[in-house]
Amino acid sequence: MKKVIIIGATSGIGRALAILYAKNNWLVGATGRRRTLLDSLQHEFPNNVITECFDVTKEDNIECLKNLTQQLGGLDLLVYNSGYGEPSAELDWEIDKDTTSINVNGFIEIVNFTFNYFVLEGKGHIAATSSIAGNRGNSFAPAYSASKAFMSNYMEGLYLKAQRLKLPIDVTDIQPGFVKTKMAKGEGHFWVATVDKAARQIYSGIKNKKHRVYVTKRWWLIAKLVKILPMFIYKKIG
Ligand SMILES: NC(=O)c1ccc[n+]([C@@H]2O[C@H](COP(=O)([O-])OP(=O)(O)OC[C@H]3O[C@@H](n4cnc5c(N)ncnc54)[C@H](OP(=O)(O)O)[C@@H]3O)[C@@H](O)[C@H]2O)c1
Repeated sequence: MKKVIIIGATSGIGRALAILYAKNNWLVGATGRRRTLLDSLQHEFPNNVITECFDVTKEDNIECLKNLTQQLGGLDLLVYNSGYGEPSAELDWEIDKDTTSINVNGFIEIVNFTFNYFVLEGKGHIAATSSIAGNRGNSFAPAYSASKAFMSNYMEGLYLKAQRLKLPIDVTDIQPGFVKTKMAKGEGHFWVATVDKAARQIYSGIKNKKHRVYVTKRWWLIAKLVKILPMFIYKKIG
């Protein structure tokens, strides 16, 4: 049985992904802060889900990760999916602090540890849910887009590092556009995917060992477009 840890599997994309892996007979290590949601997932798939309840902004990430890996009996894939983002009409330090604690500090600690674990194992696969928002700065949630750019850039670095080390360690950066969860706040959303469709495309992209997955696939176009828009146009929408 293959083993996956999904950091942030209590709701939304992470939960749908955990269900998909469980249904495909993987052993899933599911994490998050909300104990009741982890318990309900475990009750739904008693033979396929093991849980570990922790907050990625606290001090015990690595201890919890080691504990969960031991309970699973090894690890083939880790998906860092925990994320936070709030629109900040005014530049709010509390929002920026929470955003970077989860999307940058929690992410890098867990992914750094896991990459080195896979180096020792000689193989493995790491995926992380960043965002299309990371392709360009924006005024509505500056810390969110910057944190997601950090994630994508770091994942690309790890992809290159694995190549240089000549190790079969796969690295997948997942860039969703809009997915129908409580995180998709605000108005003017388009091409909104259901969580199930998003999870299916992520599952397939990881299975195919893609370096980058756009969710849904047509968000590739937006990612490319925003990158090349000159500032005199981008400043009207960004
Ligand atoms: N929905 C979209 O349109 C969209 C678009 C682009 C990217 N994304 C990214 O997709 C990922 C999943 O988001 P979602 O849309 O599925 O929203 P969600 O339902 O709010 O899921 C967020 C997940 O992150 C976990 N999390 C948040 N803070 C945490 C913390 N301090 N410690 C541990 N886990 C924490 C939550 O678990 P607990 O609350 O139980 O801790 C939950 O499982 C995020 O990284 C998000 O940035 C979403």
